[in-house]
Amino acid sequence: MMNPPISRMGGKSKLRKNIIKMIPGDHICYVEVFLGAGWVYFGKEPSKVEVINDTDQELINLFKMLKYHGEEVERLLSYEVVSRDNFYDYRDQDFSKLTEVQRAVRFMYLSAQSFASRGISFGYSALGKPSPKLFKTNCLIEIKKRLSNTYIENLDCFKIIEKYDRSTTFFFCDPPYIETEGYKDKFGTEEHIRLYESLKSIKGKFLITLNDNEFVRDLYREFSIEEVDVTYSVSRDKAARKSYGELIIKNY
Ligand SMILES: C[S@@+](CC[C@H](N)C(=O)[O-])C[C@H]1O[C@@H](n2cnc3c(N)ncnc32)[C@H](O)[C@@H]1O
Repeated sequence: MMNPPISRMGGKSKLRKNIIKMIPGDHICYVEVFLGAGWVYFGKEPSKVEVINDTDQELINLFKMLKYHGEEVERLLSYEVVSRDNFYDYRDQDFSKLTEVQRAVRFMYLSAQSFASRGISFGYSALGKPSPKLFKTNCLIEIKKRLSNTYIENLDCFKIIEKYDRSTTFFFCDPPYIETEGYKDKFGTEEHIRLYESLKSIKGKFLITLNDNEFVRDLYREFSIEEVDVTYSVSRDKAARKSYGELIIKNY
């Protein structure tokens, strides 16, 4: 199973095997509405038509650059040095002056070298050595191949659902969790209700993952709901890492 080139908050690394088993075999078009690092997309077998989407421009720019200029991103990353100064220089840089390839390198650097891959504070540890390998560059050419037949979109989830909805389309949705902050774009209760409204009347199939709570259970009550337990490790403190209930909801 292929791994994504970056980590990202809320990544589906733990749950992806369960999700992949549930993807309906009869779809033609696979749409990953909220890509993030894309654990499910990279883990599954390619579908006939594939679409990956996220509103985060820098994230989508990275995947576009890997698709078209993967070798150049890999070459430039090989010159990078990991240090606190370089990290904060990159973080605070006016990236509008960079080329698209340089922006992709910057994004990978910040994601790989920050705590919880959030690109905010320099990641280090007093208990563990730094990794000998700075970036997962050895996989970039495989990633480039994987992306070669995929549409890469940078649209709001509602637009992407509307554009690709057919009876033969399967949408995998992993939106920001309810009451979770940390993404650039706000996705609150109002957006969750809108998402439910657009999914409930689609012609295609959907599978959505959400954190387990009464609001979600009530909202999606007419659909099949399965509970799963996942342990998240976003905290620095091992003892604070918790197991949370998560829901897998589908309309088939
Ligand atoms: C929980 S993460 C997805 C994690 C992903 N499944 C993985 O394995 O890494 C949610 C993603 O939704 C994106 N997002 C937030 N609001 C969005 C919107 N309105 N439409 C599309 N994507 C959005 C965020 O940028 C973030 O990357």
